[in-house]
Amino acid sequence: MGKIKNICCIGAGYVGGPTMAVIAAKCPDIKVTIVDLNAARIAAWNDENLENLPVYEPGLDKIVAEARGRNLFFSTEVDKAIDEAEMIFISVNTPTKTYGLGKGKAADLKFIELCARQIAAVSKTDKIVVEKSTLPVRTAEAIRDILDNTGNGVNYQILSNPEFLAEGTAIEDLLAPDRVLIGGETKEGGKEAMEALVEVYANWIPRERILTTNVWSSELSKLTANAFLAQRVSSINAISELCEKTEANVSEVARAIGMDSRIGSKFLKASVGFGGSCFQKDILNLVYIAKTYGLNEVADYWEQVIIMNDHQKRRFASNIIKTLYNTVSGKKIAFLGWAFKKDTNDTRESAAIYVADDLLFEQANIAVFDPKVEEKQMHYDVNYLNTRDKEENKKGITVFADPYEACKDAHAIAILTEWDEFKEYDWQRIYDNMKKPAFVFDGRNLLDGEKLTSIGFVFQAIGR
Ligand code: NAD
Ligand code: UDX
Repeated sequence: MGKIKNICCIGAGYVGGPTMAVIAAKCPDIKVTIVDLNAARIAAWNDENLENLPVYEPGLDKIVAEARGRNLFFSTEVDKAIDEAEMIFISVNTPTKTYGLGKGKAADLKFIELCARQIAAVSKTDKIVVEKSTLPVRTAEAIRDILDNTGNGVNYQILSNPEFLAEGTAIEDLLAPDRVLIGGETKEGGKEAMEALVEVYANWIPRERILTTNVWSSELSKLTANAFLAQRVSSINAISELCEKTEANVSEVARAIGMDSRIGSKFLKASVGFGGSCFQKDILNLVYIAKTYGLNEVADYWEQVIIMNDHQKRRFASNIIKTLYNTVSGKKIAFLGWAFKKDTNDTRESAAIYVADDLLFEQANIAVFDPKVEEKQMHYDVNYLNTRDKEENKKGITVFADPYEACKDAHAIAILTEWDEFKEYDWQRIYDNMKKPAFVFDGRNLLDGEKLTSIGFVFQAIGR
């Protein structure tokens, strides 16, 4: 296998788009084509106006502007791109199964299987197939089975190359990753395939940061990394509840333990609960895999991370209700933030959705402002829970384009996302226009509590 000249990536989502844009920007000699079945998404990636890209990430527009049309292409012609490429990344979604065996836990691999079948049907030359999606350990075995049994007799190498980028910092993470992980098969040609992918990354990443392992270690490392990260958030959130009972301050506790170099200071921010498309899905998947091997204690151990996270979201909502004299019926509750974290327009599994759902049960009127999330997405998110009919959801949630309007006449404000701009608002103006007493529930420990209290707000944060 010589140098890679053509790369195809199936899946133009939050991972495929930014990841391949960076490869194209850093490897001008490689033609990178990103394909997707979703024509609207591809059209948005091709939009002249970079503000209309389907994924919002700081710095992404610049990278796309540099490479698009030169060696970066977005297309719906999946077969053509597969045919032309020597290396094919599979970066499609792998959501939690919502039906059948493993419902609510196992990863749904139907999109992965479809990709494998399509690659097998189309390929006329040898291919390196790279798992970029997050997959259960031993998925490469299933992909190999499909490729070998339905293909045209060409040779395939399967690599696992999980993605560790975090949304909101995707470009930063891709340009200077802590490590790149590449897992390969031990059979003939496996080493060469790994080397071909190492060569691609070595265009901008120091070789000592490119780690090669066997394919199973690589697949499992991705699930493990997310489980460890999420576990840290659930651990500090568990301590936050104890802080609230004992007058300890969770930020001080986090700082104190984080200075221990064995613990480290990152990922110790107490919050309303973690969201995002990965943590919950990947832990549930890990739990499911452990159970299928009969490892019940292992499964229970990791499941606790999710149980704690659900509790954290629920107790944030119930604290709002309790504090507002046990009723929010007919009261305006302003949400600042809907995205699952700052600097992204992604809302998947965002804590805001679950807090909204709990407050809607109590007949609250929710007023939302988020700098990047579109109104239709918010309605979609709440409807997706299927807890009440769409009309009722719509009546309960009003979306505002201006934060001051969202907060006007509100009984309480809840901070659900840590957008930097919230810190800069004119909080005196917000206070003056609210119902009194004016409550702020800071689910991100973002705002200056002392300042807000001196203005007159009743201020509550997490873990204080
Ligand atoms: P996404 O839903 O944003 O994008 C997936 C895309 O794949 C969609 O646009 C969909 O239309 C397309 N697709 C599905 N099946 C297809 C097919 N057969 N042919 C062509 N296109 C198809 O998902 P994402 O957030 O980019 O995640 C992709 C994978 O990466 C998942 O396995 C996820 O766990 C993993 N991952 C995500 C992140 C993250 O931050 N979002 C980080 C690391 C890893
Ligand atoms: C995560 C992993 O970090 C990344 O490596 C992987 O590739 C995909 O999953 P992502 O979900 O995009 O990335 O964002 P992340 O920064 O990990 O945050 C996840 C959630 O945890 C967010 O809701 C965030 O607000 C929350 N969080 C994070 C906390 O509540 N406290 C923290 O200290 C850190």
